[in-house]
Amino acid sequence: MAIDKLGLEFTASLPETVDAFNGAMDDYMVFAGEPVGHMLAAAEVDPDFAMGYCLTGCLRLFGGVSAAHPRVNLELRAARARRARVTAREQTHIDAFEMAAGGEIGQAGAMWDAILAEHPLDMMAAKCAHECYYLVGESGRMKTSVMNILPAWNESVPYYGFLLGMGAFGLEEAGDYRDAEEMGRRAYAIEPRDCWAVHAVAHVMQMEGRCQDGIRWLDETVDDWQGAVWLQGHLWWHQCLPLIDDGQFGRVLEIFDRHISHCDKDMVTRLMDCTSVLWRLELKGVDFGTRWDSLVDLWMHHVDEHALAFTDAHLAMTLAAAGGEKKLRRFLESQHAYIEGSDSSVAAIVERIGRDLCQGMIEFQRGDYVQAANRIYPIRDEIWRIGGSNAQRDVFLLTLMAALIRAGRHEEARAVLASAAADVPTPSLLLYYGDALDGLGEAQRAEAVRAQARQLVQ
Ligand SMILES: [Fe+2]
Repeated sequence: MAIDKLGLEFTASLPETVDAFNGAMDDYMVFAGEPVGHMLAAAEVDPDFAMGYCLTGCLRLFGGVSAAHPRVNLELRAARARRARVTAREQTHIDAFEMAAGGEIGQAGAMWDAILAEHPLDMMAAKCAHECYYLVGESGRMKTSVMNILPAWNESVPYYGFLLGMGAFGLEEAGDYRDAEEMGRRAYAIEPRDCWAVHAVAHVMQMEGRCQDGIRWLDETVDDWQGAVWLQGHLWWHQCLPLIDDGQFGRVLEIFDRHISHCDKDMVTRLMDCTSVLWRLELKGVDFGTRWDSLVDLWMHHVDEHALAFTDAHLAMTLAAAGGEKKLRRFLESQHAYIEGSDSSVAAIVERIGRDLCQGMIEFQRGDYVQAANRIYPIRDEIWRIGGSNAQRDVFLLTLMAALIRAGRHEEARAVLASAAADVPTPSLLLYYGDALDGLGEAQRAEAVRAQARQLVQ
């Protein structure tokens, strides 16, 4: 039996496996190094190290690939084969991994939370639950998952600062912006390499429409997170959002080319960031040449995976923009077959919300704004179920607003924007609000809303 740096027992037969596990978790905290490669190397030589396969498989799933990925499947089988020889805690880890791989991601999160109820210092369980709830858009559970275990932690416990960074993100997604920013800044003060805490604070600024604060925050902290190979692309994506609002499109394209667009085909979360930036630039009417093209090739590797409705939506957006009718048809047929052939929660969400969302984004790209609005408008309050963060899903709301306004449906646009712009007063939303008010002949109010948008970028 081995003991990790948090004092938790796990099954291993080689003494060096302890260092391998601790090292991989250290890397995981800072989104750097090669946690998957190192864990896999350790698991392949230690016949009892089930947690090695469990963590590598989970990290791949959380990176956005599906259980259909050949490596995930292999790691799941390897972990399961060792299940009878490990502790009850490790068995639950393996069962939760299997649950997540089966598309029951929210339930997997609950299983990791069940481990935490008994072992509140199990950082791997905390991270896995956190990732699951993020993937299924369950912000309330993401928050409570951390808050429930926080009393068992203090500054003397390894990774304490990182747990605060996770708590900050949970608070932010749940809408507790003041507590989130305070906790995120505290986490960053304890551990400047906590790029997840930096990320949480950037989210707060985005959601509060604090464009200049957001740009400054990421500029000021860049030296601490630029080495975080597994997250830095997403932080650059965050930097692009206020820059787009501020009309700094040249800088956005420079960031896109230097820091976001170069990625491996299996970095699905990064692919989504690429798609999201380009889509948002198109909404602003920016011409960026052939940048969609290389993305199409990378996304086509995932055309049959349907890991999440959120992933599918970005795939559809990319293919609609530049993939051509044949590839788009191939994707839609595959999605249809997936819905018909799977009874998982992910498949149910793809069927109920994801499919219409994909169709809506495709219609928008084709210039059929009436059909785009018809597809997205009825599901607008359910889109959170597809997963991802509030800031990421904002692209669907922006697209719906553009569709409604271009289709001349100003009344519906105003109804949505009146509350959306109050909740998340980003300049882009406010500008659409102004357009809707203009369309309804309320020029004075429209100008007041535009003035509010201008103030946010000053
Ligand atoms: Fe984010």
